[in-house]
Amino acid sequence: MTLTVKKLHPSLGAEVSGVNLHAPVDEETKAALSAALAEHLVLVLRDQSFTPAEYLAVADAFGTLMRQHYSQHNMADYPDIGIILHRDGQKPASMWHTDHTNRERPPKATILYGLTVPREGGETSIANMRAAYAGLPAEERRHLETLTTLNSIDAHRTDVLPEDREKYGAPVAHPLVRTHPEHGSKAIYFHITKAFEIEGMSGAASQALMQDLLDRTITPENIYTHRWRKGDLMIMDNRATMHRAHGDYDRSQDRELWRLIVQGDRPYLQGTP
Ligand SMILES: [Fe+2]
Repeated sequence: MTLTVKKLHPSLGAEVSGVNLHAPVDEETKAALSAALAEHLVLVLRDQSFTPAEYLAVADAFGTLMRQHYSQHNMADYPDIGIILHRDGQKPASMWHTDHTNRERPPKATILYGLTVPREGGETSIANMRAAYAGLPAEERRHLETLTTLNSIDAHRTDVLPEDREKYGAPVAHPLVRTHPEHGSKAIYFHITKAFEIEGMSGAASQALMQDLLDRTITPENIYTHRWRKGDLMIMDNRATMHRAHGDYDRSQDRELWRLIVQGDRPYLQGTP
């Protein structure tokens, strides 16, 4: 099996073909997919078709499945599949973020499968946070490397089930700049509403610092915006990207994506104890 990888955008994103995800993927192909993900940060495979059981098996090509913590959105018979469905009033995640940062070992990748997509709009944008970090002045990079975020399941959300808050609510510390375990590069890493504070700073000052960083570093040249086609499979490298959904489409139309998350390592910054 030969993977073909074609860039979608100068900064990040590549379309991959030549891999069949309906059969177990051999180790060589897994390594090639992993390297392509670490380099391009977003991989897109077109014209896929999966039942829930088949979709779960897709995760195996990228790692080990992880349970998602808003359990009310998990598929009843396949709880490792999260359903992103805006029809029922579920709000699109329109702020820049990376997923599940309140976990000790947050997901290395998020996988989305476009089951039903609106005719226009409803895109997902992904920002290259490796490039965002690299674009900062050296002095600021050194300062950011000293910062640690404290993360918990979103405190402001009223739709977190008590059992999920119980399981996933304990604060977890992560470096605000993390080293990519496969690529070796560094990237800005936080989820602004899960990081309730930066150690040693007030909550308000922490939010202001993070928002300012997002505003300054996520620039059009660092963003790939994916226009969904039915059957698209998209894999995002959460260790060096942030993403957001666009809610600006005709809301009488459905938008349904199925989400998997794949276990990652504990974030670290090389050179720190
Ligand atoms: Fe997300």
